[in-house]
Amino acid sequence: MSAPVLHPAIEEQLCLLVRERTGIRLLDHQMDNLRRTVAEGRARFGHADETDYLTALHTARASSPEHEHLIAGITVGESYFFRDQAQMDWLREEYLPRLIARRREENNLYLRIWSAGCSDGQELYSLAMLLAELLPDLERWNLHLLGTDLNAAALSRALRGRYSEWSLRATPEAARQRHFRWERDHTWSISAGLRGHVHFAYLNLREDSFPSLLSETTALDLVLCRNVFIYFDPAIVADVMHKFHACLAPGGHLLLGASDLIDSATLDGFTLHSLGNAFYLERMEPTQASAPEIAPAAPAKRPRPQVAVQVAVPAHPAPASAAAILPGYTDIIGLLGREAWNDALAAIDARQAGGEDDALLRQFRAKALANLGHARDALEACDASLALDAGDKHSHFLRALILLELHRLPAAEEALRRTLYLDRNFVEAHYQLGLLQMRRGARQSGLKSMQNALAIAERARPERRLHDAAGRDHERMASILRHELRMYEPEDGSRR
Ligand SMILES: C[S@@+](CC[C@H](N)C(=O)[O-])C[C@H]1O[C@@H](n2cnc3c(N)ncnc32)[C@H](O)[C@@H]1O
Repeated sequence: MSAPVLHPAIEEQLCLLVRERTGIRLLDHQMDNLRRTVAEGRARFGHADETDYLTALHTARASSPEHEHLIAGITVGESYFFRDQAQMDWLREEYLPRLIARRREENNLYLRIWSAGCSDGQELYSLAMLLAELLPDLERWNLHLLGTDLNAAALSRALRGRYSEWSLRATPEAARQRHFRWERDHTWSISAGLRGHVHFAYLNLREDSFPSLLSETTALDLVLCRNVFIYFDPAIVADVMHKFHACLAPGGHLLLGASDLIDSATLDGFTLHSLGNAFYLERMEPTQASAPEIAPAAPAKRPRPQVAVQVAVPAHPAPASAAAILPGYTDIIGLLGREAWNDALAAIDARQAGGEDDALLRQFRAKALANLGHARDALEACDASLALDAGDKHSHFLRALILLELHRLPAAEEALRRTLYLDRNFVEAHYQLGLLQMRRGARQSGLKSMQNALAIAERARPERRLHDAAGRDHERMASILRHELRMYEPEDGSRR
């Protein structure tokens, strides 16, 4: 069947809109698919003509049904388990065993992995299967296995964990036997045990900010973003690569797909290693000479795990004590805002050496330390801040985020509840509480907390910035929450 025709000017506008919102550059051979998706979208949402449809897309939020339908139609979600043998072998035989051995030596059993553009979840579940194979004491480990995508329907399928035989075409027999069950509807379902180790969230690589503690994209050991850049505009790839670099812990690794050919300038900050047809990237560290000095307050050998916190200039009315001194802190706030964590620490040290000390300075220290990957020191600094001002909701919230990174879930939940006790309209705290409850299996309470967050975000002025999530305003937060809530909707409309 031939594809419907679109007016060239409308087509051009649609391509621009898609590029702007997703980073995806539609090529000639994808245009028929775009035309079909548009015709279907127009009919489904009752738009009189193409212009009407385009206007609706332009004015609609990213979480509108039209937008989601378009994204689902134009994104290529092809994926399968254990994709790319060379990379999987490298992960199984070299990279993961080495990383695991190091963590055992440090007596710090945690791993942080992000599959960005995870589609239906096959890539992340493959990683979970490799870890199950390599870790006989899996349950003792604190695993942070995150999958994100901008296609909410794909995320729903990832959560559900049902796959066709075709998706398992490269799956080793042992993994098939251990982690899958054949279902009556002729699909393979992933074991509940494995599902319990991963989590999925909405994240648009083009529009959302990362690294961010809120989206749990900080201090990562490994990022996989395979077969996503082939569809991206090269200028946008450079931006995303730069952010991936910042998401990785020192010595962290990035895996792209074999066909994700990228400009060599984009590799700035990475060392490229070949694996035959495939490759992997290792984050390069600044040389000693150019590295800024670490703040003296930090012990020489710091405990892990590492954490980074997005800091925004406070957009909230500061507490009385802080309000009086806040103007004097513009230098530190500026450094934190520019993510110059070591410089911020040096400035804080200089103040404290000169006899200044208060709750806010300590809170700033906690934020900088957390961003430098020193979660335990950050927690200490946060507690020290709260010792001077137990009523600061931002310190309680920061404490909750650090505790989440340390996988101290009950303590994190308590800190979130304290934050909400101090301000029941604290959107990010409701959101984090929802994620935490979901992770602990309390689905109904989790959904309720997310709905609370959504209701508050929708009531606020859309352009109002969020304090603890750099670059995010209430409108974007509301949009993300709508996507995530949709992701948890059962396919058959029943309540789960
Ligand atoms: C071909 S699949 C790759 C899946 C998996 N990484 C793999 O290699 O098997 C590409 C995925 O990238 C997602 N994607 C495209 N643009 C994106 C964006 N701006 N933000 C997040 N995900 C995106 C698509 O929705 C799709 O699920």
